[in-house]
Amino acid sequence: MNHDAAQSPLCGRDRLIAATALVVDRGRDSFILTANGADVHAFRNACPHQGTPLENPLGQVLDADGTHLVCSTHGARFRLSDGYCVTGICQGLSLRAVATRVDGGQIYLATPGGA
Ligand code: FES
Repeated sequence: MNHDAAQSPLCGRDRLIAATALVVDRGRDSFILTANGADVHAFRNACPHQGTPLENPLGQVLDADGTHLVCSTHGARFRLSDGYCVTGICQGLSLRAVATRVDGGQIYLATPGGA
C-alpha cells in the first residue's frame, strides 16, 4: 500500500450514518464500518466463525431490521457498536475492531492497514 492509499478516507461520515453499515475494501483488506447513532465503528470484515466476509452477494451486511450486522454464510448476528456476536454459531465472540479517526467529515484508518 502506498502512502496516498494509506491516508485516503474510507468514506464520508455522513454517508456512513445514512447507510448505518458499509463494506469498504482497501487493497487486500476489507472493513465493515458501522454507525451507531453518531458514533462510528470499524471492524475487519471477517466472521469469527470461519473468517469469511460478512456481506451477501448484494454487498449488504445489515439484518432485515437494520439493527445488527449479519453474516451471510451462517447467519450470526453482531452488534453495530462493538461487533459482539449476539446470536449464531459464534455467539460470544466478536468481530475484530479497527481504530479509526474522523477528520473533516471523513473517516480514516487510525493506523495504515488498520492494525
Ligand atoms: S462464517 Fe459467519 S456464522 Fe459461520
